[in-house]
Amino acid sequence: MDSEQEILRANSLYHIYESNAEDGNVVALRGLSMTMYEGEAVAVVGPSGSGKSTLLKCLGGLMKPSAGSVELGGKRMTRLTGSDLVKLRQETVSFIFQDSNLLPHLNAIDNVAQPLIHQGVLARPARKKALALLERLGMAERAYGMPEELSGGEQQRVAISRALITDPKLILADEPTGALDPITSREVLDLFRQLHKEEDVAFLLVTHNREVASFCERSLELREGRFIAQHGTDVDIGDLSDSRELIVDDSGTVSLPPDILLKIGGPGRFEMKEIERDVMNFERVDEEKVEVTSENKFVLSPTCPACKHEYGESEEQQCPSCGSSRPMVQA
Ligand SMILES: Nc1ncnc2c1ncn2[C@@H]1O[C@H](COP(=O)(O)OP(=O)(O)O)[C@@H](O)[C@H]1O
Ligand SMILES: [Mg+2]
Repeated sequence: MDSEQEILRANSLYHIYESNAEDGNVVALRGLSMTMYEGEAVAVVGPSGSGKSTLLKCLGGLMKPSAGSVELGGKRMTRLTGSDLVKLRQETVSFIFQDSNLLPHLNAIDNVAQPLIHQGVLARPARKKALALLERLGMAERAYGMPEELSGGEQQRVAISRALITDPKLILADEPTGALDPITSREVLDLFRQLHKEEDVAFLLVTHNREVASFCERSLELREGRFIAQHGTDVDIGDLSDSRELIVDDSGTVSLPPDILLKIGGPGRFEMKEIERDVMNFERVDEEKVEVTSENKFVLSPTCPACKHEYGESEEQQCPSCGSSRPMVQA
């Protein structure tokens, strides 16, 4: 890492999707904090429904979290609105989604040029830069193809070129290889790896696939809307969901496994009364409970929603009978 400049910081993010349906509100994020530095590649790994897309949208300013704050390039994004927010976003981040989201009526080169033109750059220089990027990604011959004429892998290359054209400091990618076959998916990942090495672009890659996570230096494991563990390269993600370790990363962030969090009474503010080397005691500050959870107490669901398995006294996170991850429900 050539610099320790912070590019992204999230502080205690909560997000609740309000709903009138009978199953009520969905708490998609439950107090997430994270920091990313310039040029870093970080993966967020978690099963479907764990809150990955919600997190990415909050981090990239596409959605305002219910509580908590996001700083992008040192600026408090959650305080900005309207054109200030759009400007900060345009200057700093680009998104890549699972389906490439290309504009169907524009050819590849115009799709790539579009963010620059949107920023007020003239069409000719924008197209020139777009073509150079497409060439770089091995797409020179398809530069005038329409999206529907391109294969999934080619479309994703166009989407990557489009993401790169504004020279973002950070690329937020939501399951970027999710719609691709394994071979094309590996090609796209190799591209990411190369861009990450050569351009020092920071990547935050959201995925349920650990092969995809393997090119990142760090991965954060998301379960039921919070990080349950953090791992460096070479750690087998599959080994960690049962881990009882409390991990403190180098930014000082502590990740608790969800059942431990449950045992201590859920998220909140804690006071450290005793601190010594290697030992720390903390106690909940009662009057300072986090606002969005003060009325809602969540516990591990007593039954598996998929196969109706009864968990009984067990605190397992995964259903032993069908493998579904165990949700939290309102007490
Ligand atoms: N627009 C929405 N309205 C209501 N609930 C939503 C909405 N989007 C996502 N959710 C719920 O929030 C939780 C997290 O979803 P999401 O962030 O899409 O997870 P992931 O990307 O990990 O699959 C899920 O329980 C999902 O059903
Ligand atoms: Mg998703």
